[in-house]
Amino acid sequence: MKMKFLLTLALTLALGCTAAFAAEDDTPLAKEMKTMNKSLRALKKQVADAAKKDDNLALIATIRKSLDAAAKLEPAKTKEVPAAEKAAYLDKYKAQMTDLVKTYDELEAAIKADKADDVKKALDKLSEQKEKGHKDFAPDEK
Ligand code: HEM
Repeated sequence: MKMKFLLTLALTLALGCTAAFAAEDDTPLAKEMKTMNKSLRALKKQVADAAKKDDNLALIATIRKSLDAAAKLEPAKTKEVPAAEKAAYLDKYKAQMTDLVKTYDELEAAIKADKADDVKKALDKLSEQKEKGHKDFAPDEK
């Protein structure tokens, strides 16, 4: 009986630690990105639903907060960049983040104006910007 208790305790502690480490592994930038990703996925699911218009605009407002925070952070890979190239690297990162914000502005305008084609265009552009941003700045597997 005591053994079973000890085994359960050990397992609980081990699982608890794994979960805690997984969360701590995320950089502050990865956390903001994940928050943005969650809102964007929710938005994509219901963007065609006119009854959810206010909801969708609220999701964009939430995304903007993550983007503001993300723009002030540095990609983890910055520490691998030679000192002489660092400023240009970070300028490029910030420029791409600014472009991303502009696309969310376009998405917001399209949702407000009920322009489904423009919504699609903005969403496609976001996907392209994400792909390029991750190719340029994120660790390899992203
Ligand atoms: C709609 C657009 C985007 C979405 C939904 C998105 C989503 C994500 C997600 C979910 C992660 C975390 C992955 C993980 O750790 O499992 C991530 C990481 C990252 N993203 Fe994005 N991303 C977007 C655009 C961008 C852009 C435009 C850039 C660069 C200008 C960028 C730079 C990064 C970097 C550098 C990381 C790694 C975190 C770090 O270095 O600390 N992302 N992104």
